[in-house]
Amino acid sequence: MKIKEAVFVMSNTDAEKCPEPKVPEYAFIGRSNVGKSSLINAITGQKKLAKTSSTPGKTQLINHFIINDEWYLCDLPGYGYAQISKTAREKFMPMIRKYIASRENLMNTFVLIDIRHEPQKNDLEFMAWLGEKELAFSIVFTKSDKLGQGKASKNIAIYKRELKKQWEECPPIFISSSETRQGVKDILDYIEDINGY
Ligand code: GTP
Ligand code: MG
Repeated sequence: MKIKEAVFVMSNTDAEKCPEPKVPEYAFIGRSNVGKSSLINAITGQKKLAKTSSTPGKTQLINHFIINDEWYLCDLPGYGYAQISKTAREKFMPMIRKYIASRENLMNTFVLIDIRHEPQKNDLEFMAWLGEKELAFSIVFTKSDKLGQGKASKNIAIYKRELKKQWEECPPIFISSSETRQGVKDILDYIEDINGY
């Protein structure tokens, strides 16, 4: 799919105030600093559409972008960055969960995982919660440019082994880099497929 247009719509703290759920929607979620906003910029081909920062906790609101006037991309705050207090770490969780559970046009949630890290409890718990709610999700391993091919494959194998403890079948997996644009086309093809055009 070609991105002809990507436009910021609005920011919210409350799921109820988000734009009318009239078109398919895709959300990017994951720990702070995993690269959610950067991946949205890579996908849309606009360097500054979503605000990014090397300091975790940059995105603090639910941000909607309309793509090609046809579907929404949603950038969310992160959860669980280890270097801050537990209260601050999970500050956004209620807002994120309410948004995900109530958004009727949400077609798929992309759960982003830093390819360099071993499986983390809060990511696995979040995916378990999505499973309980019967919400579709896929995993995107981010920052692939930071690891060699061998180490990347090894980490993904470790992650799959962990997922198999919880899931009979692994969710779809993407490997991405906002630097090299690896995975961008695959993610867009996946969205196009779900949108059905
Ligand atoms: P929060 O909004 O704080 O939850 O973070 P986020 O998940 O939106 O992360 P963001 O996109 O702001 O990126 C965090 C940092 O990681 C920034 O310094 C980015 O430049 C860097 N980064 C993101 N994606 C990549 C990537 O694919 N490769 C490399 N090398 N750096 C990346
Ligand atoms: Mg962000």
